Amino acid sequence: MTPPPEVVRPELDGPFPEHIAVVMDGNGRWAEERSKPRVFGHRAGVESVREVVTSCARMGVQSLTLYAFSVENWKRPEAEISQLMRLLKVFLVQERRVLMKNGVRLRGLGRLEDLPQAALKELRNTEELTKDNDGMLLRLALSYGSRTELAEAARQLALDVREGALDPERIDDETLRTYLYDPLTPDPDLLIRTAGEMRLSNFLLWQSSYSELYVTERCWPDFREPELMEAISAYATRRRKYGGLAETEREAVGEEGAGA
Ligand code: IPE
Ligand code: IPE
Ligand code: MG
Repeated sequence: MTPPPEVVRPELDGPFPEHIAVVMDGNGRWAEERSKPRVFGHRAGVESVREVVTSCARMGVQSLTLYAFSVENWKRPEAEISQLMRLLKVFLVQERRVLMKNGVRLRGLGRLEDLPQAALKELRNTEELTKDNDGMLLRLALSYGSRTELAEAARQLALDVREGALDPERIDDETLRTYLYDPLTPDPDLLIRTAGEMRLSNFLLWQSSYSELYVTERCWPDFREPELMEAISAYATRRRKYGGLAETEREAVGEEGAGA
């Protein structure tokens, strides 16, 4: 097992996001702006993945979830899908050194069984190789769809009720959480989307209920460490209230011992 390198937390005016999730969008547009084929953008996007993963690991981010391929992305032309799957396979082999060096644990998140055999095999090998690292958890969302995740959870929950293993009267938020793909990882604090679209595109719908959203116009291949730092600094200025009142607001109405 490789110990992670020394963690250097940035100086911020507020809290640090322990879990960052990213919708890595805009590879196609980035390539188009350069009159190149879309795959050129996907390749450049891999460089951003390396930089953001390394940077997050060194800052001591606990979990980073990257939306790499959605269940809906299977609707794309076959040629683009096979290029993406090839890139994924190469990434999973080539990045092992960097992941080990930075103490990163990699895990797939989604309908992984949908992946081509060769990519799935490398994913399993990388998961196995990195499983004892005790630095950042990197979750790669692959063939991931939040509605699918919730439907699968509902199906399993119903089966457990039918078998008498679960009392339907006792089902609450936390029960449902235990049926999701990765119930033990806390919800994202900060959810970043690149390339300007104001939507979630079926990403972590349940888990991002109270995540702070940050959308940048930058396309993913141009999202590097300085842009990441901007997002983290923006997060530090946010006031999370979870439907309650912020400390200062409570004080203003004369309540003591406040806390969201
Ligand atoms: C994100 O970039 C990568 C994947 C969804 C796999 P896009 O390929 O969606 O890029 P745009 O949105 O067309 O620019
Ligand atoms: C979201 O991007 C999925 C990933 C980044 C993997 P899309 O490009 O697929 O999303 P839409 O189609 O713009 O909503
Ligand atoms: Mg897109």
